[in-house]
Amino acid sequence: MGSLDSKAFAAAGQSHLLRRLDQLSGDQAARFQRDLEQLDLSCLQRLWCADDDAAIQVAPKPPALVELTDHAVRAEAVSRGQALLAQGKVACLTVAGGQGSRLGWDGPKGTFPSGPISGDSLFAQFAGQIQRETTRYGQPVPWCIMTSPLNHESTVAFFEQQRHFGLDPSTVSFFTQGVMPSVDRESGEVLLSAPDAIAFNPDGHGGTLRALATSGLLARLREQGVEHLSYFQVDNPLVRALDPVFLGLHVEGSVSSGEVTSKAVAKRAAEEKVGVFGVQDGRLTVLEYSDLDPQVCEATDGEGRLMFRAGNMAVHAFGLAFLDRLTKGTGLPFHRAIKKVPFFDESTGTVEQPSAPNAVKYETFIFDALPMATRPLVVEADRSEEFAPIKNAEGSDSVHTSQMAQTARAAKWLSQSGVEIVTGSSGQPAAQIEIRSSSATCPEDLALCELPAKLGAGERFLV
Ligand code: UD1
Repeated sequence: MGSLDSKAFAAAGQSHLLRRLDQLSGDQAARFQRDLEQLDLSCLQRLWCADDDAAIQVAPKPPALVELTDHAVRAEAVSRGQALLAQGKVACLTVAGGQGSRLGWDGPKGTFPSGPISGDSLFAQFAGQIQRETTRYGQPVPWCIMTSPLNHESTVAFFEQQRHFGLDPSTVSFFTQGVMPSVDRESGEVLLSAPDAIAFNPDGHGGTLRALATSGLLARLREQGVEHLSYFQVDNPLVRALDPVFLGLHVEGSVSSGEVTSKAVAKRAAEEKVGVFGVQDGRLTVLEYSDLDPQVCEATDGEGRLMFRAGNMAVHAFGLAFLDRLTKGTGLPFHRAIKKVPFFDESTGTVEQPSAPNAVKYETFIFDALPMATRPLVVEADRSEEFAPIKNAEGSDSVHTSQMAQTARAAKWLSQSGVEIVTGSSGQPAAQIEIRSSSATCPEDLALCELPAKLGAGERFLV
């Protein structure tokens, strides 16, 4: 076995790990040693000693937003975006490495059944969109899916089992993000998940950058002629995976450098758990909800609107050249989250399930790339059309609220196509309705579908 530098472990306050290694033998020792070799001790020490990064130093200002009410701007953007898609210059990137623990779903979050009638998984809903745009523009759209070491195999197995939802498997690439050790919140000591294993957690969706580069995917996309990535999270079935207006604005030189463009939705209330866009030190930034002072969240302008109302939908268009530049830079800053992390207790020899948060997890966030961009752009989107994430088992942002929003959008599109929609007392459609993404990704697509004249109570319509 290679030797580990005991001085470096001591300097980083992690000598307990070498003592543990001494107690192991054979396969267990070899396994644990491999974990130890993965540790970047000086980085860990730096992170532990750093001041809490949560403190926001400079009062942020709300950002300028592009609101898409100007029809001429919109029409021009659409044709620019359509041209990009027809030239095969755009790939999709879905971050799906998170553990979805809030949802309580035993499996990768993307496998969660989210379609209101079909029960289609989140992955199926995105695949349907990609399939549709592939047909529309006559160009395959590469789809890059970031997994974590914890869900990689089960994610790939799901795609195989579902035959890649009819997509050409050569256009779907999986790449795995890195991990960071969780540390005890009192001592900073790295936690164990088992007698011979370190408690690693995924390194946050900012891990996308390094993983794209080290997997070789960034280079492959460039070789294929891809110039921009349409980035979205695995939890939002209403996302417009390939939006020509958004992509067209992203490459419109008069408003954007084509490095990064982001979508925002107006926050529905001060306490909504979304990050907000702001300007700090003259740079566009996302202020994460967990880091924000409630007073900043609740502040209103002269018209009584929230000052920081531009919620981060976690939808971005990234220029490949920009990502390439970032992967060669110093990397994204780490954030600390205090979480409950099960750990192997050496004194009892058992794995403990803590009842209170016991650990610090270190994660990087992709939106910390925004301040590094020249002329980043934020575009306002309509929540009812594009944002209904599934985060929780119940309550807000749950499968129930998301399915209600999916149904409401489907009803709106059908109504725009001339279908009479009967509504109940709450204003929700009386019928059960679902438009699969493989059938339509915009209302105009419904022209190709056979539609009823009317949908009323007790009816079910799936197209
Ligand atoms: C996130 C954003 C928030 C935004 C909101 C919109 C962060 C830190 N915050 O909040 O600003 O307003 O979504 O819905 O992202 N993921 C990985 N690897 C990881 C961690 C997460 O791939 O290591 C993926 C998850 O699979 C998920 C996404 O990133 O798709 C979001 O992660 P999550 O922790 O659920 O963020 P939110 O708190 O919902």
